[in-house]
Amino acid sequence: MLYPIELRARACRPPYPRLRAGPGCDRAEGFDRGRQKSGTMQAVDYVLLERQVRGLLEDECDFIANAANFAAFVYAEVPAINWAGFYLPTPDGLVLGPFGGKPACSRLPAGKGVCNRALAEKRTVVVDDVSQAPDHIYCDSASKSEMVVPLLINGEPRGVFDLDSPQLARFSAEDQTGIEGLVAAFLEATSI
Ligand code: SME
Repeated sequence: MLYPIELRARACRPPYPRLRAGPGCDRAEGFDRGRQKSGTMQAVDYVLLERQVRGLLEDECDFIANAANFAAFVYAEVPAINWAGFYLPTPDGLVLGPFGGKPACSRLPAGKGVCNRALAEKRTVVVDDVSQAPDHIYCDSASKSEMVVPLLINGEPRGVFDLDSPQLARFSAEDQTGIEGLVAAFLEATSI
C-alpha cells in the first residue's frame, strides 16, 4: 500500500507537545535521554513514517478509526516487531484497543504490567529483556523486548501505545524518539 505523505493544515487539536526533545531541551514529561544500544538493527526513517502517518490520518478524527489505522501502520512499517497496539484506561486497569498482531490480553489489571507502569509514570518505558522485568505481563511468549508510550493530553494519561519485539533490546534511543514522534502525530490528528 502507498501512503500519502502531503500535509494539510487540518488537525483535530492544536499541535501536540512532543515527548521527544531537541538539543538542549529537557521536557518535564520524563523523556529518558542517553540510552545507548549496540546492535545491527537497520535505521528506520521515522521522518518519512511520521509524514506518512499524518497523511494517513489527515481526513479523519475518530479515535477508533485512527487508532486502528495507526496500529496497523506501525505494525506493518516498523521492522522486527510482533505486536503494536493501544490499551485504554478503565476503572480497573487497562483494556485492549485497536492493534496489529496476534490476539492479546484483553485486560491488564491496575498496578500490574509495563503498560500500567508507563501510564502511571507518564513516560515512555523501554524493557530490553521482558524476562527480567518482574512486572511484565506476557500476552505472547515470543515477545522479548517492549516499549510503551503513554498518550498524554495536557499531561494527563489517556492510554498507552505498546510495541513488542521478538528480539532482545530491539528499541534504541532512536526508536524511542521516532515512535514518540509517531504517537504525537496520531494524537494531533485524533479526537481523544
Ligand atoms: N506486556 C504488556 C502487556 C500487553 S502485551 O505485551 C500486548 C505489559 O506488561 O503490560
